[in-house]
Amino acid sequence: MNILFIVGECAPFIKSGGLADVAGSLPKSLNEIGHDVRVVMPKYADIHEKYTKEMKLLTNFKVSLGWRNAYCGVEMLVHDGVTYYFIDNEQYFNREGLYGYDDDGERFSFFNRAVLDMLSKISYKPEVLHCHDWHTGMIPFLYRTEYQYYAGMGQMKTVYTIHNLKYQGIFPQSVMSDLLGIPDVFYHPDYLEFHGNISFMKAALVASDKITTVSPTYRDEIMHEYAGEKLEGLLRFRANDVIGIVNGIDDKEYNPADDPSIPLSYHADNWSGKVAAKTLVQETFGLPVNPSIPLVVMISRLTEQKGIDLIQHVFSELVNEKAQWIFLGSGEWHYEQWCRDMTTAYPNKVRSWIGFHEEMAHRLYAASDFFLMPSRFEPCGLGQLIAMRYGSVPIVRETGGLNDTVQSYNEKTKQGNGFSFSNYNAHDMLHTIRRAFSFYEDEERFSPIIRQAMETDVSWTHSAKQYRDLYHELITGSESHVF
Ligand code: GLC
Repeated sequence: MNILFIVGECAPFIKSGGLADVAGSLPKSLNEIGHDVRVVMPKYADIHEKYTKEMKLLTNFKVSLGWRNAYCGVEMLVHDGVTYYFIDNEQYFNREGLYGYDDDGERFSFFNRAVLDMLSKISYKPEVLHCHDWHTGMIPFLYRTEYQYYAGMGQMKTVYTIHNLKYQGIFPQSVMSDLLGIPDVFYHPDYLEFHGNISFMKAALVASDKITTVSPTYRDEIMHEYAGEKLEGLLRFRANDVIGIVNGIDDKEYNPADDPSIPLSYHADNWSGKVAAKTLVQETFGLPVNPSIPLVVMISRLTEQKGIDLIQHVFSELVNEKAQWIFLGSGEWHYEQWCRDMTTAYPNKVRSWIGFHEEMAHRLYAASDFFLMPSRFEPCGLGQLIAMRYGSVPIVRETGGLNDTVQSYNEKTKQGNGFSFSNYNAHDMLHTIRRAFSFYEDEERFSPIIRQAMETDVSWTHSAKQYRDLYHELITGSESHVF
């Protein structure tokens, strides 16, 4: 099957979060099981020269945006066996970073139209347009209302994956009318209108043939007001077309048995190599070097979603425990500042690295005994999957994908690959962390948990087949009538 992934970010070219990891790894897995999955994304200025210099201009044309015509270049690159198309426009993408500009509505209106216009100009003919997150939300809508009637487009199906419902791409009506040229009848609560604006996310939920989310639990949670971001009604209306498929990770990139970033390789039958990584990390960060102090890490975007306020709430109690803590990530300034403050306040126990450092992240996964992820909500979460692969036992809140991937250890059945708590409550978290530490004290009780974490299948193998079945069902199924 020919499937075109359309995304706002994709590793290794550019990344702001887990979306890029998924866009970078799932197409490879699907191609391994015999498909031709390709990826299209904006050509941002921050994409490293080693990639841009290999790109070849395929075609260029003008994209009509209201009364304007904007240049669009389509560049192509084959990397690691996957074909990537990059949408080039200097005005929109030749600037620092990815999103967060005042004119994002215009930039991504351009990107959405550019991708659809591109399809009649390149030889690759997708059978499914698989769009991800708000940056691509207008594509299913424009396809359904306009492009499906154009000559030479072929009949395609649309799939839209919600990686995070919180970021919706909300813009004034003028983006729809003046830039995208969508008739005013669609400025209506049944279509694009969203509390006095328009929403790219909503456009996709209204118009896509199928909607997926990145875990089954998140799929159920967003049907309710507390997680639905005001779209729960629409999601419930479309419930038969919404499915949850849990993310995987690239198990070649994250493999403690073959990872150049860590000092000594190891695997599920013998993880003594973790000690070497721990010593290196303790030395690098200037923490007391001692293999028998539990090392807890948090590797995360520092945003409200990630539950940092729970840690803040009980941190004065947590630092009384015999443990070391390392925070790696960046995000909201007040969380960054808190991490720095804690490092100053507890120099023998706490360290932080504000920013992102891929190699250091690998080392921390390998070095740590526990991986803390007490998210408020979590569509899937990739950190806990990587942590398990490296034998860092996850301590998580039972929400979204954390609930689907981490099974809290049960002493009676001896089953489980981590520790978890259910309520968004700092003392429940504290209690769970203390419970985890009590196992750490006793190697015989702790080893089976590490082993079960390391033996958990966190690859794409199973989920890629679920996507394949979904595409297949769509392509061979009867005509869908979304509206
Ligand atoms: C977003 C979500 C995260 C998910 C990732 C990839 O970053 O917050 O939970 O794992 O997308 O789907």
